[in-house]
Order: sequence, then structure tokens, then C-alpha cells
Amino acid sequence: MNFTPIIAANWKMHKTPNESVKFYENLKGSFENLINVEIILSVPFTSLSSFDAEPPIFKAAQNCHWEESGAYTGEISVQMIKELGTKYVILGHSERRHIFGEKNRDINLKVVSVLKSGLKPILCVGETLSDRENNDTEKVLDDQLKRALKNIKDIDNIIIAYEPVWAIGTGLTADENQIELAHLKIKEILFGLYPKSQHIHVLYGGSVKPKNAKNLIRVPGVSGFLIGGASLDVNSFTSIIKNVNII
Ligand code: PGA
Repeated sequence: MNFTPIIAANWKMHKTPNESVKFYENLKGSFENLINVEIILSVPFTSLSSFDAEPPIFKAAQNCHWEESGAYTGEISVQMIKELGTKYVILGHSERRHIFGEKNRDINLKVVSVLKSGLKPILCVGETLSDRENNDTEKVLDDQLKRALKNIKDIDNIIIAYEPVWAIGTGLTADENQIELAHLKIKEILFGLYPKSQHIHVLYGGSVKPKNAKNLIRVPGVSGFLIGGASLDVNSFTSIIKNVNII
């Protein structure tokens, strides 16, 4: 590998600020000599100020609003999370798309806003089971990427996460061939849009566990993981990191 793999936790709506600090301290204490992994903890907004992350660990938010400020009750702007030492923001996660009705247009506004503030989006894309069964996976990926990246001139500060919706939180992992083909397609679309890019980080997400991490990280085109359930326990998260670090 001639790039640093990224292992990102997505805690979703889990962990209080106190629980988050404890996790961070345990995580820091559980490995030495990490030479080749970047670790991202995507924590609830309320936990962003609960610890200062030191490299190779970085903090991410799981969403944001696209406006800098205004009458948007209950929303959080990029400026607010930036001040808390946040480096990344997950955007377009399938739970935001499917439970909260986020559209590619909204996600595009958020990508623009996050980049403008100097933070980095982790843009999630992925097909539903019926998209896959209807042979629409490539079309969906093409559509989600092109719409979310509309008017974005440069992909260098954006991480893509390929997360087949049917594999998220279900214990079903896409098989290695499906993952490789989807990653190839994503790279083909992105290098078509951004021919000058050197390397585009594309993470895989969907039921990544300690037992499958070693094989999944070897799938061509996979440059790391976005991990939900298995990132909530410090031992299982650390074991995934260690499996990736030895590659
Ligand atoms: P999972 O979640 O690892 O629990 O499948 C992944 C995600 O939602 O990012």
C-alpha cells in the first residue's frame, strides 16, 4: 500500500461525553507503534468537546447543516464543530438519507460548506437491496456521486465511503467480489470527473468485524473502513485497527 489506510468509527447515536472520553483513553492506551493507520472517531455532536484527539486519531462529526448560522432550530453548523477540533464530517450516510430524508441536493450543499470551512467530508454512497437486485448498483453510485459532488472542483480533500445499505448493521457483508467491483466503479466515475487526482480514498462500510477485516482490507481498491457496530467496543475496534496496521 502506498497510502495510509483510514479506519473510521461511526458511533451513530451511542455514547455520552463521559463514555466517549473513556473510550478514547482506552483506545490510546491499547496500541503502540502504530505506523501506518489513520483513525477517525465519528462521535455524537455532544462528545466532540469531550476529548482532544491526538494523531493518528482524529475527530469527525456525523452530520452538519450547510449554512454558517441562522434560524435553523436544532441544527449544527460546520463552524461550530470546527471550533471543537473536528477534522472530518460524515455526509450522506444511508441512515440520514433513508430515515431523515436527506437528498443528494442537501448532501451537495453540505459537501460545499464542509470543504469551504477547511474540514474534510466523508461522503457515503451505496445501493439498497432492491437497487442491487434490479442491477441498478452502478447507476445509483454514479447518480449519488455526481449529484453530491456537483460544482466541486477537487476531490483531494474528500473521502468516499462505499456502504451497501443492505450490509449496514445487518451482519451481512458484501462479498469481496461485490466490493471490488463497486470500488472499481466508484474510482472509474471519480477519475472521470477528476482526471488529475493522484489517489482517492474509498472506504468500505457494512458489517466490518475483527474476523473479516483482514480479508476485506486486501480487496483491491479498499483503502480503509467505516465501522458502526464493531467500533463501539474498544477491543473489537482495536483488533480491526491492528489487522489493518500489519498490511
Ligand atoms: P455497521 O455500520 O458496521 O454496523 O454495519 C456501518 C455504518 O453504518 O457506517
